[in-house]
Amino acid sequence: MNILNIGSLNIDKTYSVEHYAEAGETIQAKAYGEFCGGKGLNQSIALARAGAQVFHAGCVGPDGGILLDALAAAGVRTELIRESTEPSGHAVIQVNPEGQNKITIFGGANRNVTPAYIDEVLTHFGPGDILLLQNEISNVPYAIEKGREKGMTVVFNPSPINGDLERCDLRLVDYLILNEVEGRRLAGTDAEGAEGVVEKLGVKYPRAILVLTLGSRGSCYADGKVIFYQAIFPAKAVDTTGAGDTFTGYFLAGIAAGRAPAEAMEYAAMASAISVSRHGAAPGIPNCDEVCLELAQWRKNSENEKGEKKVR
Ligand code: RIB
Repeated sequence: MNILNIGSLNIDKTYSVEHYAEAGETIQAKAYGEFCGGKGLNQSIALARAGAQVFHAGCVGPDGGILLDALAAAGVRTELIRESTEPSGHAVIQVNPEGQNKITIFGGANRNVTPAYIDEVLTHFGPGDILLLQNEISNVPYAIEKGREKGMTVVFNPSPINGDLERCDLRLVDYLILNEVEGRRLAGTDAEGAEGVVEKLGVKYPRAILVLTLGSRGSCYADGKVIFYQAIFPAKAVDTTGAGDTFTGYFLAGIAAGRAPAEAMEYAAMASAISVSRHGAAPGIPNCDEVCLELAQWRKNSENEKGEKKVR
């Protein structure tokens, strides 16, 4: 079984700021860094670092060598990626002292993903393979339809939310991985809390297994039969950029490897906790040894705490 991710590749221009610039305000950044990013690239790297076999497809510009190198260094297969004449996509990111961010993306070469290219890429894949998509490239609705026609398992992270999503037939999607804000928008509900969102999405898209990330409240898994929550692992956040992508990649790698959903969610939560403690989207994504080590340490500490409570 192979995983194909048709997704964005961005150069992230990241500015550390004391506070976000307001309308009409000019601020001085404390630090500046350029990192590899894009929801697509981040998720491919997370998948690969989690141990999955992943092929990335998408478009870069003549300046995209750094993006291809980062993917290849992580073990992602890059031979399907096209080079276009337009510059690579990029993101302008402000990160505040709490590690939260504000992101503006410029699509660039990511908007050159055409139906013909998608058709060509899909000839290499078939039933049993997984197609992963986010909403930062052109022709996502077409990719969803064609992936489904091919009998692939379609996994969709509908991020960022924009008008393109209205053309996506989400009834064809097998896994929807999204945050609470995205969930509410797609469900068309103001309901507070995950349950209301999950219930509405379940009615609208009964085929889809739902994974909802809830920020500091953790995450929620719902597949029509079971619904459960995974707490976050505490971490000192320096940069939350790419944390959701790390979660998605690790969760999907776990499912592809045949892990139980609860185990895949726990791995994903630990991987994203590690990622927020580091700077940059792709560079912050841990490898699976680090995640296993931290989880083992966390389990040991929890056992010790339980033991101490018994003695008291
Ligand atoms: O999810 C984080 C990513 O969103 C960044 O790497 C940036 O490129 C934008 O696509």
